[in-house]
Amino acid sequence: MNKKYLLSTGESDYERLSILSKLYNPLALYFLTDSGLKAGMTVLEIGCGSGHMACDIARLVGPKGKVIAIDNSEKQIELAKKTAKDFGVDNIDFHVCDVFDLDKLGVSYDATYGRWVIEFSQQPAKALEVMYKHLKSGGILCYEGMSPRVGSYFTYPYTALIDEWFTYGPKIFATHGYNIFLGNEIPHHFKALKCKTIKAKINQAMLLTAEEKSVYRLGIYAAKESILNHKIMSAQDMDAYCDKLADFEKSDAISGFYSNVIVSGIK
Ligand SMILES: C[S@@+](CC[C@H](N)C(=O)[O-])C[C@H]1O[C@@H](n2cnc3c(N)ncnc32)[C@H](O)[C@@H]1O
Repeated sequence: MNKKYLLSTGESDYERLSILSKLYNPLALYFLTDSGLKAGMTVLEIGCGSGHMACDIARLVGPKGKVIAIDNSEKQIELAKKTAKDFGVDNIDFHVCDVFDLDKLGVSYDATYGRWVIEFSQQPAKALEVMYKHLKSGGILCYEGMSPRVGSYFTYPYTALIDEWFTYGPKIFATHGYNIFLGNEIPHHFKALKCKTIKAKINQAMLLTAEEKSVYRLGIYAAKESILNHKIMSAQDMDAYCDKLADFEKSDAISGFYSNVIVSGIK
């Protein structure tokens, strides 16, 4: 099985993931609550990255509940621990663990959530199966996957620069046989698992400020190694493209970023 992650980890991708958390967490938290997440529950988050969502879920489940946050990158877990410390959140157990190795962790939980994680795998359905396997009966399975369909992202006023940006993701993912459009398939995977009460929503961030729009440029930096190794762009073209993205950040333009399909179901 190919478990290669395509983006940088640790400090170099921390800023981007922090900005994205501010943009995407509110609807995801609302959706989780609407799906039955409540105080006192134990929640597994897979691929916790910077740890921001783990902290938000930990606050939601309160002192009588807890979050088990896993990531297969040691660097991410170190940073996620720091995020929790900075936010004064102490009801999270962090583990360096791959989602496919959950059996070894020996945990069970009332709910499980992940965002933009199993897209980086050739067997996303298997990953959902593993998350489901250790979920308590009556528990909540929730996954939020990318669905960057043409027509879902946009800029106003229009600029071809951002249309170009959305061509790079599918190219990078294709180098490893990964499916960047996994979000579209999630409801079908939940049906195959025989989940009850399946719900779904679109979670799409609107980028208004320069900081928010910087996720485009920071995304290119995060994927730099993949872009160069697979000759998707030359280093020179990449620098020139990032300069244009920096100008776009300073402009008045607004943009609709990745649309995610967020799905929940009951075991
Ligand atoms: C794009 S980041 C998303 C982080 C976070 N979920 C968020 O929404 O901000 C993907 C994270 O998943 C982790 N990851 C990728 N494949 C994984 C796997 N098979 N098991 C556990 N973590 C994984 C990466 O190390 C990275 O931290």
